[in-house]
Amino acid sequence: MSGKYQNILETIGNTPVVRINKLAPDHVNLFAKIEAFNPLGSVKDRLALGVIEAAEQSGELKPGQTVVEATSGNTGIGLAMVCAQKGYPLVITMADSFSVERRKLMRFLGAKVVLTPAAEKGTGMVRKALELAEKHGWFLTRQFENEANPDIHARTTAQEILRDFDGEKLDYWVTGFGTGGTLNGVGRVLAEHRPETKIVVCEPEGAAMLSSGAAQDRNPDGSAASSHPAFTPHPVQGWTPDFIPKITEDAVNRNQIHEILKIAGPRAMECSRNLARKEGIFVGVSGGATLAGALDVCGRAPVGSTVLCMLPDTAERYLSTPLFGDIEAEMNDEEMEVSLSTPGYHRPNPA
Ligand SMILES: Cc1ncc(COP(=O)(O)O)c(C=O)c1O
Repeated sequence: MSGKYQNILETIGNTPVVRINKLAPDHVNLFAKIEAFNPLGSVKDRLALGVIEAAEQSGELKPGQTVVEATSGNTGIGLAMVCAQKGYPLVITMADSFSVERRKLMRFLGAKVVLTPAAEKGTGMVRKALELAEKHGWFLTRQFENEANPDIHARTTAQEILRDFDGEKLDYWVTGFGTGGTLNGVGRVLAEHRPETKIVVCEPEGAAMLSSGAAQDRNPDGSAASSHPAFTPHPVQGWTPDFIPKITEDAVNRNQIHEILKIAGPRAMECSRNLARKEGIFVGVSGGATLAGALDVCGRAPVGSTVLCMLPDTAERYLSTPLFGDIEAEMNDEEMEVSLSTPGYHRPNPA
């Protein structure tokens, strides 16, 4: 992205669509929309800008008021950027099961991070944010219910896809969901403007809540009243919490989803590694998981089909997680052999 901008927030969105050359079967055209090109490295930069600007416009958020949200990371990082640029204090609640670098990134951007017990899962951190907002009169962004979340995807992500595939085929669009903002906002625009495009949603195999068909208990404000019975913890950070978000359910109820795929954690990680090693595309576990779903679609798709999948964030956010579990800090046998193949500058591994 080149150009001159008045502030960092103007660089959110307009992410590239890149062809997947080696991992895709020959009979289809597979493309990926790489959201790591957003300034803070994830699709959630869009949501952060969308919810803050909608609240400024409605008057719900007052100048200098503290913003609070429950997030597993990327939303907090995006909000921290938006709040830093616009001058709002930010408090994030986050279960202590998520990667340490996410906390540090938010703190580096000036936010306060309040950790909640992992055992209380996603609902615990959401309730903590609610308690804090009520007690202190802070503005709660409610990423899981806030219509400004899907709206910004309808206004930006979806329009970029329409523009990039204008006059071309687009047979399948594949996404995962965290809040469902991407699914809901892009899905409704595609259903209207590209009704031939089949919408495919991926969810974790161990938390196949949509596939289960079981309803989600809700409070009158749309927030989840309890953990969903089909949820078990899964390794795809950023994908679904332990409940079906309202925004996701709304998208499902519109009957615009063609297929729901279950993705196993180890396969998600393998796809993320393959994207890095064979395509030079550096994305997190949810990107690998969505690519896994897209490859399933490709395998069954008619000859000449075009498939687009979403890659939500950068792999750099996962250095301390199992995604990098087999990456050593010291030289492995092959590297040692390379080192020893010339006489100088050999540095043995520490004992
Ligand atoms: C890493 C990652 N992948 C995927 C998603 C899904 O995005 P959305 O909230 O728009 O459903 C998110 C956000 O939750 C995320 O952080």
